[in-house]
Amino acid sequence: MAFVIALAGKGGTGKTTVAGLTVRYLIEKRKRPVLAVDADPNSCLNEALGVDVDATIGTLREESLELIRSGTERPGGMSMEQIFDYQVQQALVESNGFDLIVMGRPEGPGCYCAANNIIRKYTDSLSASYHYVVIDNEAGMEHLSRKTTHTVNLLLIISDPSVKGIQTAKRIDALVDELQLEIGRRVVIINRFTEGAQELEALAKNTGLMVAGIIPQDPAIAQADLQGKPACGLPNDSIAVKALFGILDALNIP
Ligand SMILES: Nc1ncnc2c1ncn2[C@@H]1O[C@H](COP(=O)(O)OP(=O)(O)OP(=O)(O)O)[C@@H](O)[C@H]1O
Ligand SMILES: [Mg+2]
Repeated sequence: MAFVIALAGKGGTGKTTVAGLTVRYLIEKRKRPVLAVDADPNSCLNEALGVDVDATIGTLREESLELIRSGTERPGGMSMEQIFDYQVQQALVESNGFDLIVMGRPEGPGCYCAANNIIRKYTDSLSASYHYVVIDNEAGMEHLSRKTTHTVNLLLIISDPSVKGIQTAKRIDALVDELQLEIGRRVVIINRFTEGAQELEALAKNTGLMVAGIIPQDPAIAQADLQGKPACGLPNDSIAVKALFGILDALNIP
Protein backbone atom coordinates (compact mmCIF):
# COMPACT_ATOMS: atom_id res chain seq x y z
CA MET A 1 0.00 0.00 0.00
CA ALA A 2 1.05 3.54 -0.69
CA PHE A 3 2.31 5.91 1.98
CA VAL A 4 -0.38 8.60 2.16
CA ILE A 5 0.47 12.24 2.81
CA ALA A 6 -2.43 14.70 3.21
CA LEU A 7 -2.48 18.47 3.60
CA ALA A 8 -4.77 20.60 5.73
CA GLY A 9 -4.85 24.16 7.00
CA LYS A 10 -6.50 27.56 6.85
CA GLY A 11 -7.30 29.12 3.47
CA GLY A 12 -4.43 30.49 1.45
CA THR A 13 -1.68 29.18 3.70
CA GLY A 14 0.07 27.36 0.86
CA LYS A 15 -1.41 23.84 1.01
CA THR A 16 -1.55 23.47 -2.76
CA THR A 17 1.92 24.90 -3.28
CA VAL A 18 3.38 22.58 -0.64
CA ALA A 19 1.41 19.63 -2.06
CA GLY A 20 2.85 20.26 -5.54
CA LEU A 21 6.38 20.59 -4.23
CA THR A 22 5.94 17.47 -2.08
CA VAL A 23 5.00 15.51 -5.19
CA ARG A 24 8.17 16.77 -6.81
CA TYR A 25 10.23 15.87 -3.72
CA LEU A 26 8.90 12.31 -3.75
CA ILE A 27 9.62 11.94 -7.46
CA GLU A 28 13.16 13.31 -7.11
CA LYS A 29 14.20 11.90 -3.76
CA ARG A 30 12.01 8.90 -3.09
CA LYS A 31 10.16 6.43 -5.29
CA ARG A 32 7.86 6.79 -8.23
CA PRO A 33 5.09 6.65 -9.17
CA VAL A 34 3.21 9.17 -7.04
CA LEU A 35 -0.55 9.68 -7.13
CA ALA A 36 -1.55 13.30 -6.60
CA VAL A 37 -5.17 13.73 -5.48
CA ASP A 38 -6.82 17.10 -5.74
CA ALA A 39 -9.62 16.86 -3.17
CA ASP A 40 -10.40 20.58 -3.21
CA PRO A 41 -13.62 21.41 -5.13
CA ASN A 42 -11.96 24.68 -6.16
CA SER A 43 -9.17 22.61 -7.57
CA CYS A 44 -5.88 24.00 -8.76
CA LEU A 45 -3.31 21.39 -7.80
CA ASN A 46 -2.91 20.73 -11.51
CA GLU A 47 -1.67 24.30 -11.93
CA ALA A 48 0.88 23.83 -9.14
CA LEU A 49 1.96 20.65 -10.94
CA GLY A 50 1.85 22.19 -14.41
CA VAL A 51 -0.61 19.75 -16.02
CA ASP A 52 -4.01 20.14 -17.70
CA VAL A 53 -7.14 18.33 -16.54
CA ASP A 54 -10.12 17.38 -18.72
CA ALA A 55 -12.32 15.35 -16.42
CA THR A 56 -12.99 15.38 -12.69
CA ILE A 57 -14.63 12.77 -10.47
CA GLY A 58 -17.48 15.25 -9.94
CA THR A 59 -18.27 15.66 -13.64
CA LEU A 60 -17.85 11.95 -14.34
CA ARG A 61 -20.25 11.10 -11.57
CA GLU A 62 -22.78 13.49 -13.03
CA GLU A 63 -22.39 11.82 -16.42
CA SER A 64 -22.84 8.36 -14.90
CA LEU A 65 -25.97 9.49 -13.04
CA GLU A 66 -27.31 11.08 -16.21
CA LEU A 67 -26.83 7.77 -17.99
CA ILE A 68 -28.96 6.05 -15.35
CA ARG A 69 -31.62 8.75 -15.40
CA SER A 70 -31.95 8.74 -19.17
CA GLY A 71 -32.22 4.95 -19.24
CA THR A 72 -29.61 4.85 -22.02
CA GLU A 73 -28.42 1.36 -22.72
CA ARG A 74 -25.09 0.78 -21.10
CA PRO A 75 -22.21 -0.31 -23.32
CA GLY A 76 -21.73 -4.09 -23.21
CA GLY A 77 -24.22 -4.40 -20.36
CA MET A 78 -21.66 -2.93 -17.97
CA SER A 79 -22.81 -2.15 -14.44
CA MET A 80 -22.71 1.47 -13.30
CA GLU A 81 -19.85 0.53 -11.04
CA GLN A 82 -17.89 -0.84 -14.00
CA ILE A 83 -18.61 2.24 -16.08
CA PHE A 84 -17.47 4.45 -13.28
CA ASP A 85 -14.32 2.38 -12.70
CA TYR A 86 -13.53 2.79 -16.36
CA GLN A 87 -14.17 6.53 -16.24
CA VAL A 88 -11.95 6.96 -13.20
CA GLN A 89 -9.13 5.34 -15.16
CA GLN A 90 -9.87 7.78 -17.97
CA ALA A 91 -9.79 10.71 -15.54
CA LEU A 92 -6.27 9.90 -14.39
CA VAL A 93 -3.88 12.46 -15.81
CA GLU A 94 -0.57 10.75 -16.44
CA SER A 95 2.57 12.81 -16.21
CA ASN A 96 6.26 12.39 -15.60
CA GLY A 97 6.63 10.34 -12.41
CA PHE A 98 3.14 11.04 -11.15
CA ASP A 99 -0.55 10.71 -11.98
CA LEU A 100 -3.18 13.20 -10.93
CA ILE A 101 -6.84 12.73 -10.15
CA VAL A 102 -9.16 15.66 -9.49
CA MET A 103 -12.32 15.52 -7.40
CA GLY A 104 -13.88 18.69 -8.79
CA ARG A 105 -17.22 20.06 -7.80
CA PRO A 106 -20.23 17.82 -8.25
CA GLU A 107 -23.63 19.38 -8.84
CA GLY A 108 -26.68 18.92 -6.69
CA PRO A 109 -27.44 18.73 -2.99
CA GLY A 110 -25.54 16.29 -0.82
CA CYS A 111 -23.15 15.45 -3.61
CA TYR A 112 -20.15 16.88 -1.90
CA CYS A 113 -20.10 14.04 0.58
CA ALA A 114 -20.81 11.50 -2.13
CA ALA A 115 -17.88 12.75 -4.17
CA ASN A 116 -15.71 12.57 -1.09
CA ASN A 117 -16.77 8.98 -0.54
CA ILE A 118 -16.02 8.16 -4.12
CA ILE A 119 -12.61 9.72 -4.02
CA ARG A 120 -11.91 7.86 -0.83
CA LYS A 121 -12.92 4.56 -2.33
CA TYR A 122 -10.90 5.13 -5.47
CA THR A 123 -7.80 6.47 -3.81
CA ASP A 124 -7.94 3.48 -1.50
CA SER A 125 -8.04 1.07 -4.42
CA LEU A 126 -5.75 3.13 -6.64
CA SER A 127 -3.15 3.52 -3.94
CA ALA A 128 -2.15 -0.11 -4.38
CA SER A 129 -0.47 0.91 -7.64
CA TYR A 130 1.57 3.80 -6.21
CA HIS A 131 4.39 4.24 -3.73
CA TYR A 132 2.98 7.53 -2.50
CA VAL A 133 -0.34 9.34 -2.49
CA VAL A 134 -0.41 13.10 -1.86
CA ILE A 135 -3.85 14.55 -1.12
CA ASP A 136 -4.40 18.30 -1.36
CA ASN A 137 -7.47 19.25 0.65
CA GLU A 138 -9.63 22.32 0.69
CA ALA A 139 -9.27 24.88 3.45
CA GLY A 140 -10.99 24.37 6.78
CA MET A 141 -12.06 21.21 8.47
CA GLU A 142 -15.23 20.00 6.78
CA HIS A 143 -13.26 17.43 4.84
CA LEU A 144 -12.02 15.86 8.04
CA SER A 145 -14.56 13.26 8.93
CA ARG A 146 -14.32 9.63 9.82
CA LYS A 147 -16.41 8.66 6.85
CA THR A 148 -14.40 10.43 4.21
CA THR A 149 -10.85 10.58 5.49
CA HIS A 150 -8.61 7.80 4.30
CA THR A 151 -5.96 6.28 6.40
CA VAL A 152 -3.31 8.96 6.31
CA ASN A 153 0.28 8.21 7.23
CA LEU A 154 1.42 11.81 7.45
CA LEU A 155 -0.76 14.91 7.82
CA LEU A 156 0.97 18.19 6.99
CA ILE A 157 -0.94 21.02 8.65
CA ILE A 158 0.07 24.23 6.92
CA SER A 159 -0.12 27.52 8.80
CA ASP A 160 0.67 31.04 7.74
CA PRO A 161 2.83 33.08 10.11
CA SER A 162 -0.14 34.43 12.09
CA VAL A 163 -1.69 33.65 15.45
CA LYS A 164 -4.92 32.78 13.64
CA GLY A 165 -3.09 30.33 11.40
CA ILE A 166 -1.61 28.57 14.43
CA GLN A 167 -5.02 28.53 16.14
CA THR A 168 -6.57 26.87 13.08
CA ALA A 169 -3.71 24.38 13.03
CA LYS A 170 -4.45 23.62 16.67
CA ARG A 171 -8.16 23.14 15.94
CA ILE A 172 -7.37 20.73 13.13
CA ASP A 173 -4.98 18.88 15.41
CA ALA A 174 -7.65 18.63 18.12
CA LEU A 175 -10.29 17.49 15.64
CA VAL A 176 -8.09 14.63 14.51
CA ASP A 177 -8.09 13.37 18.10
CA GLU A 178 -11.77 14.04 18.62
CA LEU A 179 -12.82 12.16 15.51
CA GLN A 180 -10.21 9.49 16.15
CA LEU A 181 -9.08 9.69 12.55
CA GLU A 182 -6.62 7.13 11.36
CA ILE A 183 -3.68 9.47 11.00
CA GLY A 184 -0.19 8.21 11.70
CA ARG A 185 1.76 11.38 12.23
CA ARG A 186 0.77 15.00 12.07
CA VAL A 187 3.05 17.98 11.97
CA VAL A 188 2.73 21.70 11.41
CA ILE A 189 4.67 23.61 8.78
CA ILE A 190 4.67 27.39 9.12
CA ASN A 191 4.74 28.79 5.60
CA ARG A 192 5.42 32.27 4.18
CA PHE A 193 7.57 33.02 7.16
CA THR A 194 9.04 36.49 7.38
CA GLU A 195 11.56 37.91 9.74
CA GLY A 196 10.49 38.62 13.27
CA ALA A 197 7.80 35.97 13.36
CA GLN A 198 9.89 33.44 15.33
CA GLU A 199 7.56 33.86 18.32
CA LEU A 200 4.94 31.99 16.35
CA GLU A 201 7.01 28.85 16.26
CA ALA A 202 7.30 29.05 20.05
CA LEU A 203 3.56 29.71 20.31
CA ALA A 204 2.79 26.67 18.17
CA LYS A 205 5.10 24.50 20.23
CA ASN A 206 3.56 25.82 23.45
CA THR A 207 0.10 24.75 22.33
CA GLY A 208 1.46 21.24 21.94
CA LEU A 209 1.81 21.24 18.17
CA MET A 210 4.72 19.43 16.61
CA VAL A 211 6.38 21.98 14.32
CA ALA A 212 8.28 20.23 11.53
CA GLY A 213 9.77 23.45 10.24
CA ILE A 214 9.27 26.76 8.55
CA ILE A 215 9.21 27.82 4.91
CA PRO A 216 10.15 31.43 4.24
CA GLN A 217 8.18 33.77 2.04
CA ASP A 218 9.81 33.16 -1.34
CA PRO A 219 9.83 35.88 -4.01
CA ALA A 220 10.47 33.16 -6.62
CA ILE A 221 7.00 31.72 -5.89
CA ALA A 222 5.34 35.11 -6.41
CA GLN A 223 7.35 35.52 -9.61
CA ALA A 224 6.34 32.08 -10.92
CA ASP A 225 2.73 32.90 -10.00
CA LEU A 226 2.84 36.16 -11.98
CA GLN A 227 4.35 34.44 -15.00
CA GLY A 228 1.74 31.66 -14.84
CA LYS A 229 4.44 29.07 -14.17
CA PRO A 230 3.79 26.07 -11.89
CA ALA A 231 5.16 26.22 -8.35
CA CYS A 232 6.46 22.74 -9.01
CA GLY A 233 8.94 24.10 -11.53
CA LEU A 234 10.79 26.32 -9.05
CA PRO A 235 14.54 25.87 -9.14
CA ASN A 236 16.05 23.58 -6.52
CA ASP A 237 17.95 26.48 -4.98
CA SER A 238 14.83 28.58 -4.40
CA ILE A 239 14.44 29.23 -0.69
CA ALA A 240 11.01 27.63 -0.39
CA VAL A 241 12.10 24.45 -2.17
CA LYS A 242 15.24 24.16 -0.08
CA ALA A 243 13.28 24.69 3.15
CA LEU A 244 10.52 22.21 2.28
CA PHE A 245 12.91 19.54 1.02
CA GLY A 246 14.91 19.92 4.25
CA ILE A 247 11.72 19.49 6.29
CA LEU A 248 10.69 16.40 4.31
CA ASP A 249 14.20 14.93 4.60
CA ALA A 250 14.01 15.33 8.38
CA LEU A 251 10.59 13.65 8.48
CA ASN A 252 12.25 10.47 7.18
CA ILE A 253 9.39 9.46 4.94
CA PRO A 254 9.83 5.73 4.33
N1 LIG B 1 6.50 30.23 0.67
C1 LIG B 1 5.79 31.05 -0.12
N2 LIG B 1 6.32 32.22 -0.53
C2 LIG B 1 5.61 33.06 -1.32
N3 LIG B 1 4.38 32.83 -1.76
C3 LIG B 1 3.79 31.67 -1.39
C4 LIG B 1 4.46 30.73 -0.56
N4 LIG B 1 3.63 29.67 -0.38
C5 LIG B 1 2.50 29.96 -1.06
N5 LIG B 1 2.58 31.15 -1.66
C6 LIG B 1 1.54 31.84 -2.45
O1 LIG B 1 0.41 31.98 -1.61
C7 LIG B 1 -0.79 31.86 -2.34
C8 LIG B 1 -1.66 30.77 -1.72
O2 LIG B 1 -1.00 29.53 -1.89
P1 LIG B 1 -1.81 28.19 -2.14
O3 LIG B 1 -2.77 28.34 -3.24
O4 LIG B 1 -0.80 27.11 -2.21
O5 LIG B 1 -2.60 28.12 -0.75
P2 LIG B 1 -3.77 27.13 -0.34
O6 LIG B 1 -3.64 26.93 1.12
O7 LIG B 1 -3.77 25.93 -1.20
O8 LIG B 1 -5.04 28.03 -0.66
P3 LIG B 1 -6.59 27.55 -0.68
O9 LIG B 1 -7.00 27.48 0.77
O10 LIG B 1 -7.26 28.64 -1.43
O11 LIG B 1 -6.63 26.22 -1.35
C9 LIG B 1 -0.40 31.56 -3.79
O12 LIG B 1 -0.43 32.75 -4.51
C10 LIG B 1 1.04 31.05 -3.65
O13 LIG B 1 1.78 31.31 -4.81
MG1 LIG C 1 -5.32 25.03 -2.30
